[in-house]
Amino acid sequence: MKKPLVVGNWKLNPVAITDAQTLARAVATKTKRYAPAVDVVVAPPFPFLSEVARTLKKHAVQLGAQDVFFEESGPHTGEVSAGMLQDIGVQYVIVGHSERRARGETDEVVAQKTIAALRRRLTPIVCIGEHARDARGDFYTVVAKQLAASLQGVSSAQVAKLVIAYEPVWAISAGDGKGKTATPEDVEEMALFIFKELAKHYNRTTARRVRLLYGGSVNPQNAPALGTIENIGGFLVGGASLRPDDFAAIVKNMCI
Ligand code: PGA
Repeated sequence: MKKPLVVGNWKLNPVAITDAQTLARAVATKTKRYAPAVDVVVAPPFPFLSEVARTLKKHAVQLGAQDVFFEESGPHTGEVSAGMLQDIGVQYVIVGHSERRARGETDEVVAQKTIAALRRRLTPIVCIGEHARDARGDFYTVVAKQLAASLQGVSSAQVAKLVIAYEPVWAISAGDGKGKTATPEDVEEMALFIFKELAKHYNRTTARRVRLLYGGSVNPQNAPALGTIENIGGFLVGGASLRPDDFAAIVKNMCI
């Protein structure tokens, strides 16, 4: 059994470092009881990582970043490397989030970032998901292509160490928790499809070791049904991760 994982993607929030510390402290306190059963990660904006790392020092909550660059150093203005993240205690990194893909990040770049993160022993959370669903089911082909291309060059030993987050873009909220939620049936079918694709590219044993998360308007109300889906080992949470009580309720739900 893989330990469930719940990741809070804070996106471009909160706006001040003191608020980030307060939020991290609240998450740590409210999820403490569930820590032995669930891996809990928060991913604050880059400038707050070090301070949040300090806040979380004596707590079980782990630290994630929201992006990483694939080069280690050099003339790359504005970028942050995997080595830098590792150096300040980051353990997980989200790559290929749809909000970054919307700004031009390609599958090829996502694969490069994934490999760079693995090299520094960071756990990549590779995001994939279709923009829309169609009656013919063409979105399965979209996801299959995105998955294969985002993992281009990732070995079997490496893939077993990473996390895949299935986030249908149409289900991601605007931060107000009011997005459309995928139904448990939608997610269950896609989770099985992703497992089969991984088994095809690698093998079933390896595919079974990959942690698969669901993301897109997860909240305390829909988490119970989504959390029991076979092949889904947790959540990537946006809007609700900024509300410690809601986030803790989602984490609690994975404690079975
Ligand atoms: P949401 O965001 O939970 O606010 O829909 C999820 C994500 O974008 O990772």
